[in-house]
Amino acid sequence: MEQPGREMANGCHLGASPTNFRDANRMDQLSIFALYNTVTLGVEGTGMVSYAKTLTDAERWNLAFYISTLVDSPKQVNAGKMVWNRVKQIF
Ligand code: HEM
Repeated sequence: MEQPGREMANGCHLGASPTNFRDANRMDQLSIFALYNTVTLGVEGTGMVSYAKTLTDAERWNLAFYISTLVDSPKQVNAGKMVWNRVKQIF
């Protein structure tokens, strides 16, 4: 299966491991704005460079939204769907 984290690590020899975007425990802590922010600013001292100059603002937002969908958490998504359907009936 495709693993974005691993793909990113190719050619990256700066020590820190890239974030595993499939890890629900990590992704639970990251807002879409936080993802956008890291893509924009990078993380100093790691292989995670700033993409502010190579990608447009819209492209960085698009990436942030995309990354937020990679999390491997079908149980959570299903639970969310049930809440959605319940709330839909109330209003
Ligand atoms: C378009 C390509 C990339 C995108 C969209 C991207 C996105 C991100 C995001 C959103 C984070 C923060 C996640 C968090 O806070 O846990 C992150 C972290 C990181 N990325 Fe990337 N990344 C890209 C390419 C790369 C590449 C090419 C490398 C290595 C050469 C890299 C290395 C890292 C590392 C080491 C971290 C963790 C930094 C830390 O210690 O907090 N990334 N990346």
